[in-house]
Amino acid sequence: MKNEFPILNYPGSKRNLLSFIDEYTTSHIPKDKAVFDIFAGSGAVSYFYKDRFKVYANDSEQYSSVILNALLKFQPKNKIDELLKEMDRFSEFNKQKLISVYNDWINKEKELLVSLKFDEIEQFYLSFPNVWKENVVLNNMEVTIEKLRTLPFYCLFTSYYSGNYFGVYQSVEIDSIRFAIEEADLNIETKNMLLSALFYAMKEAVFSKDGHMAQPLGLSNNLEKLFKRRNVSIYEKFVQKVTDFFSISFLTEDKGNKVFNYTFDELFFNKMDLFNDVGFIYADPPYTDMQYSRYFHLLNTLVNYQYPEMTMYRGNLSKGLYTENRFQSPLSQKSKAIVYHKKLFDFCKDKKIGLAFSFAYPFDPVSQPTNRYVLNIFDLIDYGKNVFKGDFQYYTQDYNHSNNRNSNSKKVLEYLLLYTP
Ligand SMILES: C[S@@+](CC[C@H](N)C(=O)[O-])C[C@H]1O[C@@H](n2cnc3c(N)ncnc32)[C@H](O)[C@@H]1O
Repeated sequence: MKNEFPILNYPGSKRNLLSFIDEYTTSHIPKDKAVFDIFAGSGAVSYFYKDRFKVYANDSEQYSSVILNALLKFQPKNKIDELLKEMDRFSEFNKQKLISVYNDWINKEKELLVSLKFDEIEQFYLSFPNVWKENVVLNNMEVTIEKLRTLPFYCLFTSYYSGNYFGVYQSVEIDSIRFAIEEADLNIETKNMLLSALFYAMKEAVFSKDGHMAQPLGLSNNLEKLFKRRNVSIYEKFVQKVTDFFSISFLTEDKGNKVFNYTFDELFFNKMDLFNDVGFIYADPPYTDMQYSRYFHLLNTLVNYQYPEMTMYRGNLSKGLYTENRFQSPLSQKSKAIVYHKKLFDFCKDKKIGLAFSFAYPFDPVSQPTNRYVLNIFDLIDYGKNVFKGDFQYYTQDYNHSNNRNSNSKKVLEYLLLYTP
């Protein structure tokens, strides 16, 4: 049976390739050392190894380290009922504050959603007073970023993302659960578990493609989906995932796991001593020039909860309604990625640390487009052969990434490059 505990629909997730990875890696991982998942993302591979090895997991994205901490460190010791009761107590306080400001909007939204008023709902959401519109006053409350930062309750999602990514009431629920996570007296592992459960609920409700959060869908072309998504209860989905964390199917084994939130540069230039205890590296970097910070920027905004400034692009808001300080990874840049991966290969060779390197690449690079890929996999295979000599092999498996279903033109081969010293 596969060890799985999904939180997000993660682009490039290895959730459906665990047997393939298992087949070629597990027998090469020394039992007395840690296996280090250096681009751990949604944690699919880290969690898979958790019951057999000590796992170190890293990712440059903050939301990822929240999930990794929950998957690798959370221990369901206390009673779930008491925890949820405590959450409800704080969450209700915040919710009542928000309802007092947004009451008319919440009631109107409910009415439109229940009666399936397709023709009115678009206008309703377009007229919602959020921070993306200037100089809005709502029940004597100014909806400006400066003003929102001074309020004694949480309303970031309600004032930034109501009417685009989420509904008004859904945003009220997100803000209120987030408030409770901050205010309740929790240890850090429980806090990360609750944030991960809230990520899951947001993924289930978000009005965007494939559960990613790169940009909200246009209202008029997607009204059916809009009604479906807006009727998802954030609270119910949140409780469902928290319950999963407390169920017997959640693996609690912890052989000394550690989680890091470093960039590749920080890891390999400043934190090299972390590798003293590492017997095997699993590396699953970005394959294309799409930045991961784009897919899930909302989750970092939720964790930081800083009422960030908006990002403008040529005087306009970005389609994804991005906010400041998104990390732009050089590994998602064509000119740079291969330099980094060669450095990783050199490092493993020098330290004699085993390496499994995953990469998805078009099935037929001659007839299929490769222009979004950050490197040519055959260049890296050649480099591996040169550096690792006889200790290098590679394996492939046919795979259609979930968002490319039914599309032969996007068929990819999953590569696993392996160094076993
Ligand atoms: C293909 S995904 C990994 C997916 C993961 N194996 C899973 O199953 O969910 C690549 C990951 O690399 C991370 N990443 C990108 N650039 C990075 C950098 N410079 N340093 C560390 N992590 C980086 C991204 O945030 C992303 O989570």
